Amino acid sequence: MKIILLGPQGAGKGTQAQRLSQRTGAKHISTGDIVRAEIKSGSELGQKVQDFNDRGELVPDEIIVEMAKPYLDDADAWLLDGFPRNEAQAKALDDALKDLGIELDAAVALEAPDDDLVQRLSGRRTSDATGRVYHVEHDPPPENSDEDPGPFVQRKDDTEEAIRRRLDIYHEQTEPLKDYYAERGLLTTVDARQSIDEVTEEILAAVGEGR
Ligand code: AP5
Ligand code: ZN
Repeated sequence: MKIILLGPQGAGKGTQAQRLSQRTGAKHISTGDIVRAEIKSGSELGQKVQDFNDRGELVPDEIIVEMAKPYLDDADAWLLDGFPRNEAQAKALDDALKDLGIELDAAVALEAPDDDLVQRLSGRRTSDATGRVYHVEHDPPPENSDEDPGPFVQRKDDTEEAIRRRLDIYHEQTEPLKDYYAERGLLTTVDARQSIDEVTEEILAAVGEGR
């Protein structure tokens, strides 16, 4: 299974990828996580991408493509979360997959209106210990859990200004990729306003991995 998860910020790409990965064994590849890990490491590359990340801007294509590529032939099954985000990246991905002899199975687009997304992102908390994503109301972080002790922190780019910027970029550059994959017969759309569990089941059914 090789699947791309498309969708605006807060639609639940990371949330779903974590659950789908647990259910199917497919590897979760998040370019956002890769960017944040690089920043945390304090590397030169991390310093280069930090400003883009914190402002909610896209990291330049040539940098993000090189950061994502090594992961593509790292597992038999994967879920790509947050990549590609524009046509140039989609083409770079096509080329990379062709070189590797890998075929894409589906592009799943999670859809929800902007107003819901802002509400979700402002309540998002991420575990520093495990990287798991929670929401203060919809999926609260555990209290006194050995499995996930936290701390549960807010992301740097979950400010109102950076959220708005990310949503603008999504509509401008990423949303057109739905047509890109629809033309190739690979697109499935899922209503991301449903509960977290309902969305997971719908994706599994759509990609033929449902129970
Ligand atoms: P990235 O980490 O990918 O951030 P993003 O695109 O802004 O997307 P989010 O992580 O905010 O949204 P999500 O859909 O994963 O939502 P989540 O599951 O967390 O990228 C960060 C930055 O890295 C970019 O801005 C850019 O700088 C750089 N970058 C990354 N990829 C790049 C690329 N390809 N090119 C260039 N730059 C790149 O859910 C959100 C909240 O909602 C959570 O609290 C969750 O609990 C809750 N929730 C989820 N589903 C539901 C539901 N069904 N009902 C109720 N609540 C829900
Ligand atoms: Zn995410």
